[in-house]
Amino acid sequence: MLKSYEFPNDFWWGTASSAAQMEGNDAMDGKGKSIWDHWYEKEPQRFHNGIGPQRTSQFYQHYKSDVLLMKELGHTSFRFSISWSRLFPEGTGRVNPKAVDFYNDVIDELIKAGIEPFVNLYHFDMPFLLQEKGGWENREVVSEFSRYARTCFEYFGNRVSKWFTQNEPIVPVEAGYLYDMHYPNQIDFKKAVQVGYHSILASALAINEFRKIGEIGKIGIILNVTPSYARSQHPADQKASRIADLLFNRSFLDASVKGVFPSELVQLLKDLGYLPKVRKEDLIIIQENTVDILGVNYYQPRRVKAKENLPHPQAPFMPEHLFDHYEMPGRRINPYRGWEIYEKGIYDILINLRDHYHNIECFVSENGMGVENEERFLNEEGVIEDNYRIEFIKGHLKWVNQALTEGCNVKGYHLWTFMDNWSWLNAYKNRYGFVSVNLEKQSERTVKKSGWWFKRVIKENGFME
Ligand code: BG6
Repeated sequence: MLKSYEFPNDFWWGTASSAAQMEGNDAMDGKGKSIWDHWYEKEPQRFHNGIGPQRTSQFYQHYKSDVLLMKELGHTSFRFSISWSRLFPEGTGRVNPKAVDFYNDVIDELIKAGIEPFVNLYHFDMPFLLQEKGGWENREVVSEFSRYARTCFEYFGNRVSKWFTQNEPIVPVEAGYLYDMHYPNQIDFKKAVQVGYHSILASALAINEFRKIGEIGKIGIILNVTPSYARSQHPADQKASRIADLLFNRSFLDASVKGVFPSELVQLLKDLGYLPKVRKEDLIIIQENTVDILGVNYYQPRRVKAKENLPHPQAPFMPEHLFDHYEMPGRRINPYRGWEIYEKGIYDILINLRDHYHNIECFVSENGMGVENEERFLNEEGVIEDNYRIEFIKGHLKWVNQALTEGCNVKGYHLWTFMDNWSWLNAYKNRYGFVSVNLEKQSERTVKKSGWWFKRVIKENGFME
């Protein structure tokens, strides 16, 4: 018998993207360089097929028709980010009027199309001139961020009522300061902790600016609260998993939602000798400026086991000195990205938020599947038949639906992403969109089968299976 998965009438359906990944820099139009522009100039070979951020999907040129296509596909909301270095070419000081016009127009077009804009302020894209000053390592840059945030609230706050300070702030910490996947390519745990702490402070300061301006809507943060699963019930595996959870989830989650750092995390960093430099008044700001709403990005779980071998004595300290990653036999993998597919993870996250984070209002802000060479699935009508994406989304939506029936305060679902976009080091290797983009003729967009399927889901507020 078919089961019906129904969602509330006002459920937010849509997609998410980010400035650096979709705008394109072919027309810089006064934009300053971000760390991505700089790194690509320096080391283009690090990017898949040598494709850099200048050749992203050109939303900057085509946003009007792209928004119309979103409308056609039934979107009720869309998350994008403002590029700090487009608005402030030097990261601070002078505002670029063309950026103001552009974002004003994007917001207006979305509203005209009946699509609610969700605006994020930071998605991995530090202005290069501020990175030269140390980026998030530097307390001054933290203050610059709150100034930038305030400017955005002032310019756009009259029409935007869902704001987000940052997307996955743990990622620049890991990728930029531990694992050599983002600029500035450092491997330095001490700096990583300072950068993480400053990002949290920056978010709280931006929230503080938002509150000072008055009632302009809700403000939140978007976190990849990847659940940690221990290999076994053995206390050593359990401890390893708890440490991974503290470092990668609870650091940002507790600080953003509860305004405090878990005492176990503080003790751990203290024991390791890696407590960041903290000013007392900062802790009050963090405590008093928690989020109204939480975006949950979920792609894959984190499986953990106790360490099996001692690290090399000369190796720089890494989180992996405290636990090992666990490759669970039989796990399902998306081979193109190498990420495990585990749909129930989204339910576990939502139940955790219900039970331990006062059931804060939240939504699935990113979920998706990147697949390589999707042209092989083209049918005779020229449509990519991405049945695997439909199955992937359904699998997750079923668990979101289950969480709803159990009282979780989850308000929407956004796929990553609307149209195929540029995926950092992977450039255009894996495609995530409901809409494919012809890289040769940038303006050519074609809706995939999943896009039309999702349109029906939105219309019917659910699906049967
Ligand atoms: C999310 C990010 O973590 O994952 C996106 O917010 C990113 O920016 C997405 O594109 C998919 O990851 P990737 O590395 O395959 O692009």
